[in-house]
Amino acid sequence: MLGNFTYCNPTKLYFGEGSVKYLKEELPKYGKNVVLVYGGGSIKKNGIYDAVTAILKECGKDVAEISGVMPNPTYDKLCEGMKIARAHRADLLLAVGGGSVCDYTKALAVSVHCNEDPWEKYYLRFEEPDCEIVPVGCVLTMVGTGSEMNAGAVITNTAQKLKIGHVFADESVMPRFSVLDPVYTLTLPRYQMVAGIYDIFSHICEQYFSGTDDNTSDYLAEGLMHSLIHSSRIAVRDMQDYEARSNIMWTATWALNTLIACGKDTDWEVHMLGQAVGALTDATHGMTLAAVSLPYYRHIMPYGLAKFVRFAKSVWDVDAAGKSDEEIANEGLACMEGWMKELGLVMNITELGANEGMIEDIAKATLVMEGGYKVLTHEEIVDILKKSL
Ligand code: NZQ
Ligand code: ZN
Repeated sequence: MLGNFTYCNPTKLYFGEGSVKYLKEELPKYGKNVVLVYGGGSIKKNGIYDAVTAILKECGKDVAEISGVMPNPTYDKLCEGMKIARAHRADLLLAVGGGSVCDYTKALAVSVHCNEDPWEKYYLRFEEPDCEIVPVGCVLTMVGTGSEMNAGAVITNTAQKLKIGHVFADESVMPRFSVLDPVYTLTLPRYQMVAGIYDIFSHICEQYFSGTDDNTSDYLAEGLMHSLIHSSRIAVRDMQDYEARSNIMWTATWALNTLIACGKDTDWEVHMLGQAVGALTDATHGMTLAAVSLPYYRHIMPYGLAKFVRFAKSVWDVDAAGKSDEEIANEGLACMEGWMKELGLVMNITELGANEGMIEDIAKATLVMEGGYKVLTHEEIVDILKKSL
């Protein structure tokens, strides 16, 4: 490992069936005014809303609600929430939902006391908060993003056709605590479950496919990939398999809580491509990644060949005997493609609502990252997107 790094993750986790009861330990640490943030209603159907509000009541909290946080939360919705949180003088923001709700709540946490336009400050100028940050807690209901234990908050500006993520450097943006009950994820539709599984895999790849040094983080990444591939195969056969779903939940958290980025440059170009597709189509995050991944990895493979060979051998058990490096690397990506098809992922952006006429706009909305094996030109982005149609 050659890189230097700082590592701090203050999020306290309560993991396992029934762990919502630990809200009773956390809630008394904050003031009376809580803003409960949730999505389009799944938590009302599956009983999670009732379980959480009963505990809020028991703890004597004065609760205001922000409901209807949509997948790919928008800046307009953020502005609506800022008014509610300010009027309620929020002492704690409690997110109950998936990555969208959790991201939204973190964006709200840095916006409630912000005197500037949060979109311009955090998402266009990428500044750090210089105001009070309202504490965030999370009860997770959808697995994938790692938002429960990181400082990322992705917001979509529909007017500007931009979907941008800010990973805040200030760890007080991270949830103070997160409740992770795998049972809460069992009501997820299959489409969301597999999209989340691929989101996890992509997070690991984004960090793995960078650098050439011998780095402990890469061995951790390979371990996480093994566990995810194994458990995902069980989960797609039996979505109610608690053991598989709990492993997937735990893998998701470690895939993006900064641990496996330690000492690494990290890439994130697949996410930039996926987010640009998402900005123009509003498609499910994990599916946007699945649709662009293989054209992207096949394109950059020659520039990071040694790592793709290692990926093939270590993650997919490709037999290297008598084969060239290119053949081994290609076989690894073919194994990955086979697994993605087993999961039933969307493998092209056409199915997500994109078409040839949109390619130029998607390419323009794609941020270019510099930590991977190839810094893409505009023409290369266009080419990858065309191959993703
Ligand atoms: O809104 P409700 O009704 O709750 O329905 C949601 C939503 O429609 C549903 N759902 C969630 N939990 C459920 C459930 N349905 C039934 N039972 C449950 N237990 O699932 C749908 C998708 O939820 P969403 O939160 O949008 O999914 P996800 O967790 O994948 O979050 C996606 C957002 O996170 C961002 C993405 O860009 C996207 O905006 N990301 C955040 C990251 C971070 N903070 O580090 C990194 C990621 O790469 C990602 O970019
Ligand atoms: Zn992601």
